[in-house]
Amino acid sequence: MMKLNAVAAGALVVALLISVQPAAADGDGRGYDKKGVEYTVRKEVEKAIKCDSGVGAALVRLVFHDCWVNGCDGSVLLDKTPYSINNGGTEKAAVNNIGLAGFDVIDVIKAKLGAAVSCADIVVLAGRDAAAILSRGRITYAVETGRKDGVVSSAAAADATLPTSTMEFQQLKDNFARKGFTQGELVILSGAHSIGVSHLSSFHDRLDSSTATPIDGRYAAALAKDVDAQKAAQMTPDPTEKNNIRDMTSKFRKASGYDATGVDTAAVGALDNSYYHANLQNMVLFKSDWVLRTDDDAATDLVEYRDNATKWDNDFADAMAKLSKLPAEGSHFEIRKNCRTTNQNYYYY
Ligand code: HEM
Repeated sequence: MMKLNAVAAGALVVALLISVQPAAADGDGRGYDKKGVEYTVRKEVEKAIKCDSGVGAALVRLVFHDCWVNGCDGSVLLDKTPYSINNGGTEKAAVNNIGLAGFDVIDVIKAKLGAAVSCADIVVLAGRDAAAILSRGRITYAVETGRKDGVVSSAAAADATLPTSTMEFQQLKDNFARKGFTQGELVILSGAHSIGVSHLSSFHDRLDSSTATPIDGRYAAALAKDVDAQKAAQMTPDPTEKNNIRDMTSKFRKASGYDATGVDTAAVGALDNSYYHANLQNMVLFKSDWVLRTDDDAATDLVEYRDNATKWDNDFADAMAKLSKLPAEGSHFEIRKNCRTTNQNYYYY
């Protein structure tokens, strides 16, 4: 096992960026130079990840949270709409959208591309590029463009639609089925939790002995210790932890008894199948990850993806491509001038 210091981590990010060239693309027939659009998005995502490696995970998550609610329509980006003001806010205010980020990167890209491209297209392109960079070029897929931006965004709808980390297996399965996704795709897409961070409030149930679902005892103890240290140092009641134990320090991994066999512990922040190694050791944060072990078929998939990294890369790419195609719902669309606001005041809800 290797401990990655800050210099090595920086070098890894640079290596990731160099190793993956922007995808060439044909024109999409909608009148703009798609190659230029894709190139610009790619360059801006590279730049953003170089400045802040955590933003790549945020961009991957943004695709899920935009496309799951009203389809891929950029609704997750809106700060307010006339409707949202008296109705609990836009999707950003949803409990299930805790920690959502990457909005600044979308704004920068939009400022470069203007009316040529919708905010909804930018979300799926940026998420696709972040996945390619963080996976060191192993996860690649084509996405169509031509989406339009929706004008509706509601926190209540996001909370009613997005899955939560405390769901049971059947609830997760039903949630995915409602969007046309299979149980297999649930297992595949959950592998996105090989990257990024989570707030304590999203996994505190796992540390509370009165409600805890099985979680490795040593891992839970190491987490509790780290959480307490952060609370004391930062005076925050809701600190964050890395989703993937691979990304914790070697001291933390050792204290947890983590078995890194088959995992590249130097690949801190990489989007890969290490989530399956962690899950099968009971070392994942969310109950929603752990419950995948409780179904025979899902558990078989977990083992398969742990043992076959390339299969997971390919299946994850396919599932992300499918996610990026969820059609926008609603009757009024536009290409927003600013991704955070609708172009006009719409009252058709
Ligand atoms: C299967 C149901 C899922 C549940 C219940 C779930 C839940 C969560 C929760 C609670 C967090 C932490 C939020 C926080 O406390 O800050 C999180 C983070 C994350 N999720 Fe999921 N998620 C699910 C599926 C997905 C999918 C399908 C993707 C992507 C395709 C995804 C990508 C991510 C990423 C990348 C992060 C880290 C974000 C960051 O560091 O900024 N998740 N998820």
